[in-house]
Amino acid sequence: MIEWEEKYSVGITSIDEQHKKIIGIINRVIAAKEFDDNTEDIAEILNEMAVYSQDHFKTEETHMIKFKYPEYQYHKEEHNDFALRTLAYQSRVITGDNCVANAVLEYLKSWLVNHIQKADKKYSDCFKKNELK
Ligand code: FEO
Repeated sequence: MIEWEEKYSVGITSIDEQHKKIIGIINRVIAAKEFDDNTEDIAEILNEMAVYSQDHFKTEETHMIKFKYPEYQYHKEEHNDFALRTLAYQSRVITGDNCVANAVLEYLKSWLVNHIQKADKKYSDCFKKNELK
């Protein structure tokens, strides 16, 4: 299981709270894998990922537009990729593929390292300068 650590923090409490949810989703995938890749569990987790991506990305993108964050467009493309990946995994589950859990887990782990710890941290100073806490 993955625990929240300070290294994941972007220094903005409201956004850290949202990021903790994705760690929760990762842990649910790990748990689902332990129960023989239960397809129903994976389908439910993917639905949660879809809701997460809509809500959380909207939060970040709204701030980026408001604060005129210069890397908005690039950042938004990464968000779009996450949403498309989630849809692709959902399609695989619908077509009876019961080996999706591994791919989802690897993707989410890489998202934590390559998006949250890199791309998200880049907006930290800009958001803080605009007094977001
Ligand atoms: Fe926290 Fe850019 O997703």
